[in-house]
Amino acid sequence: MKAIKGWRLGRTNYMQSLPGARHRAPTRKPVWIIALVSLITMFVIGAYMFPHHRKAACYMFSSKGCKGLTDWLPPSPREFSDDEIAARVVISEILNSPRVIKKSSKIAFMFLTPGTLPFEKLWDLFFQGHEGKFSVYIHASKDTPVHTSRYFVNREIRSDEVVWGRISMIDAERRLLTNALRDPENQQFVLLSDSCVPLRSFEYMYNYMMYSNVSYVDCFDDPGPHGTGRHMDHMLPEIPKEDFRKGAQWFSMKRQHAVITMADSLYYSKFRDYCGPGIEGNKNCIADEHYLPTFFYMLDPGGIANWTVTYVDWSEKKWHPRTYMPEDITHKLLKNLTSIDAVSRVTSEGTGEVTWVPCMWNGIKRPCYLFGRKFHASTLDKLINLFSNYTIIS
Ligand SMILES: *[C@@H]1O[C@H](CO)[C@@H](O)[C@H](O)[C@H]1NC(C)=O
Ligand SMILES: *[C@@H]1O[C@H](CO)[C@@H](O)[C@H](O)[C@H]1NC(C)=O
Ligand SMILES: *[C@@H]1O[C@H](CO)[C@@H](O)[C@H](O)[C@H]1NC(C)=O
Ligand SMILES: *[C@@H]1O[C@H](CO)[C@@H](O)[C@H](O)[C@H]1NC(C)=O
Repeated sequence: MKAIKGWRLGRTNYMQSLPGARHRAPTRKPVWIIALVSLITMFVIGAYMFPHHRKAACYMFSSKGCKGLTDWLPPSPREFSDDEIAARVVISEILNSPRVIKKSSKIAFMFLTPGTLPFEKLWDLFFQGHEGKFSVYIHASKDTPVHTSRYFVNREIRSDEVVWGRISMIDAERRLLTNALRDPENQQFVLLSDSCVPLRSFEYMYNYMMYSNVSYVDCFDDPGPHGTGRHMDHMLPEIPKEDFRKGAQWFSMKRQHAVITMADSLYYSKFRDYCGPGIEGNKNCIADEHYLPTFFYMLDPGGIANWTVTYVDWSEKKWHPRTYMPEDITHKLLKNLTSIDAVSRVTSEGTGEVTWVPCMWNGIKRPCYLFGRKFHASTLDKLINLFSNYTIIS
């Protein structure tokens, strides 16, 4: 009874002792600031821990949604599945294995062609005198090739049909890698087409590739409809939209990279099952333009140059790159192609803006290209006549 009374008294006293409203603010403000700060902190922690609730949380603060807010929040780590953890462990183990280049180390030339290779005679000139430093593999998807060079005889691997832009193209590349990997001396793996020609001497090419500390896999971020616009929701969560990349398929990669490409089934299966036409809306995902760039961007971004050593001319801005005809083949043209030391990038956003990236080789700016592509079969004689001249190391 006494206590209650006391309490009542105290309460009354407290009420009575309150200062006027004018003076109340200074004593109360810190409480409000503390409350507000802890509320914001709790929200930030909550948004970070429960990313799925992010959007809802944002709407509590602004009807405009999350954009601004999520941008400055740290990216939330997604929990990997068992398969993803396993894939990453195996891949990092392979990537950490030492790279050993010996005198007997070879470069595997892997040709992806429908049939006969029109430039065998030119390649013969290129390979001559370098026996034991290279090996040739041919994936002929349509017709049995007729050979004009001894280096190409009996080098066909068991092949299958290839449809441009479809997963069968990736399958052919993996089949070539698998066959080339059977030879332990192969340390570098180059993918070439029937329209590819050498732009450099064998020694130049060999040293450039063998002693480079990165693989040449083309990879860039195209936020437009022909880039990220081709990402499929079905690829989630393993392949996030922001990791989707684009690039030409013509790679040159070191052995460790060839092994992880051959061994990957997790990321490959996402492209096999969901990268194609008619899967989501009217998107048309081109498997060979996205699988390797995305795979390497996600798993070893620092290990690739982000450009390819195979030149092609897209400057005409047509659906297909320019094809070189006999009248185009001059000493000047070939010198021009071999002196290019930066790669251009144009996204499909439609701005037409071209960005140039210098070609760096182990930290030194050097010419970008070792091979050229889209040469018409009829350019063979002219190229043979010019070959020893344009490949002189300068
Ligand atoms: C290639 O791009 C990735 C980012 O996409 C970057 O981390 C890497 O350093 C680049 N490679 C080179 C050789 O600059
Ligand atoms: C190569 O040719 C292109 C177009 O013909 C020209 O724009 C470029 O300046 C030339 N580059 C060199 C290094 O000669
Ligand atoms: C390659 O060499 C350059 C220059 O020395 C260096 O900056 C870069 O980090 C190296 N890259 C790798 C993957 O070792
Ligand atoms: C070969 O190259 C030299 C310079 O290196 C040049 O003077 C000569 O005209 C070239 N020959 C042909 C056939 O282009």
